Amino acid sequence: MNSTETGSAAARRVPGQSVWQRELPADPDGLSERAVAQLERYSGSALARLLRFMGMTTLEWEAHGAVVRDCHGQEYVECGGYGLFVHGHSHPLVVEAVRRQAATLAQSTRLLPHLQQAELSAALADVCPGELRYSFFCNSGAEAVEGALKLARAHTGRQGILAAQDAFHGKTMGALSASGKAMYRDPFLPLVPGFAHVPYGDAEALEAEARGIASEPGGLGAILLEPIQGEAGVVVPPPGYLALARRLCDELGALLILDEVQTGVGRTGEWFRCQAEGVVPDILATAKSLGGGVMPLGAFIATPECWQPFDESPFLHTSTFGGSPLACAAGLAALRAIREEGLLERARELGRLLGKGLGEIGRRYPGAISAVRGEGLFWGLDLRSEGVGGLMLSRLLGEGGVLVVYSLNRPNVIRVMPPAVATPEQIEFVLEAIDTAAREAEALGGEL
Ligand SMILES: Cc1ncc(COP(=O)(O)O)c(C=O)c1O
Repeated sequence: MNSTETGSAAARRVPGQSVWQRELPADPDGLSERAVAQLERYSGSALARLLRFMGMTTLEWEAHGAVVRDCHGQEYVECGGYGLFVHGHSHPLVVEAVRRQAATLAQSTRLLPHLQQAELSAALADVCPGELRYSFFCNSGAEAVEGALKLARAHTGRQGILAAQDAFHGKTMGALSASGKAMYRDPFLPLVPGFAHVPYGDAEALEAEARGIASEPGGLGAILLEPIQGEAGVVVPPPGYLALARRLCDELGALLILDEVQTGVGRTGEWFRCQAEGVVPDILATAKSLGGGVMPLGAFIATPECWQPFDESPFLHTSTFGGSPLACAAGLAALRAIREEGLLERARELGRLLGKGLGEIGRRYPGAISAVRGEGLFWGLDLRSEGVGGLMLSRLLGEGGVLVVYSLNRPNVIRVMPPAVATPEQIEFVLEAIDTAAREAEALGGEL
C-alpha cells in the first residue's frame, strides 16, 4: 500500500484509468501520516490503529469508473465499496446531473414540491416489480429500513418483526434490532422490542417462528429479509425460500419487507434481486447504488395499500434532507445510466465471467477457500479461517491492486463486488490477483 509495493501491479498494468485529473501530492507519506494522525486525534484511535495494523494508511485520492488511485499513485480495481458502486466511481452522467442541480436548486424549501423527487418516484415505480409504487426518500440504508419497519407496524397495528440471524440492516436502533449479530447489538441493549430471529434459509424455522409470533398477543407485523445476505457473507437462500416468506405473510396478514440496500439497483443483474425470484414484497428498502455512487440516497417503496397510514398523515414520517433535489437528480441519472448503458446485462455478463473464474480458484485452492457463493456482481469467498482472510486481504490491497471487503457479520468471508462498468480485462486482472493471493495463503496452510 505504499510506493515501494506497487511493482507487480504496475507490471500487470490493467486497472487502466487513462486521465487522472488530480495531481499527486509531493509528499504522499507525510500527507498520509498527517491524515491518519488527525483521525487518531479527532475520530478516536481504534480506526487509525486498525489502518496502521493493516498497512492501509495511504490516502484514496481519485477514482473513476472501476479504478481507484491512492496518493502514492497506485491503482486498484474497485471490488469493494460495500455495494455502493454499481456505476463505478464518479459516473459522468451522475456527476453532470449533480453539478447542474447543485448550481440551481440543491436543497428543497420543504414547502413546495420539486420536480426531481416527483420524477424519481415515478422512475422507481417503473423499475420496481408488482404494485410497488409509493416512495419515501431518505439518506441511507439504515433509514430506509427504519421507515419500512415503521410503516409495517403502522399499517398492520402489530408489533412482531421476524428477521434472520446474521442479517445486517444498519446500525440505527430499529435497523439494529432487526440485525442478527450479537456483537453489534449487545452494547446497546435493550433494543426495540418485538424482534425475533431465525436461521437464514431454513424454511421450517421461518414457518414455525412466523406462526408462533402470529399467535402471540402482539401479532406478526412483518417478515424482513435480505434476498441475498450481504454482511453475513453473501448467503444465497435455497430456491423457494423468499416465496415461502411471501406465502406466510399473505396467510398470516403480515407484510413482507425485502432489504435490497445491497442487492438492489443492478448489483445482481436485475433492478432488484427479488425479480429473479419472482417474489414481490409489500415494502422494498434500497439505498447504496441508488445514488449512483455519488450522492447518499435511500428509499423505501411500498404498495398503495400499505401506504395508508402515511396517506392519512403525511407528516408521520419525515426527513429534512431525504429526497433533496440534489440526491434525487443523482438517483434519476443513476437509473438512466443503467438503462442507457445496459448495465443490467453487463452485470450479468461480467458476473458470469467473475463467477466462473472464482469457482475455478475455489476448486484450485481448497486449503484456503471452503466455498464460493454469489450472483451477478455480488460474490463471497468463504475462507478456511480469518487468518487466511487477513493474508489475502492485505495481499490484494497491496501488490494485488484490488480493493475487496470482508464481511461485517462473518469476517472470514471476503466479498468481491466490482462495478458493472468494469471491463472484462479488469475482471481478469481481479481473478489473477485473487488466484495469486489464494495460492500464497494455501502455501502457508496450517500456519494461518
Ligand atoms: C442489506 C443492508 N441493509 C442496510 C444497510 C445499512 O445501510 P447504511 O450503511 O447506508 O445505513 C446495509 C449496509 O451495508 C446493508 O448491506
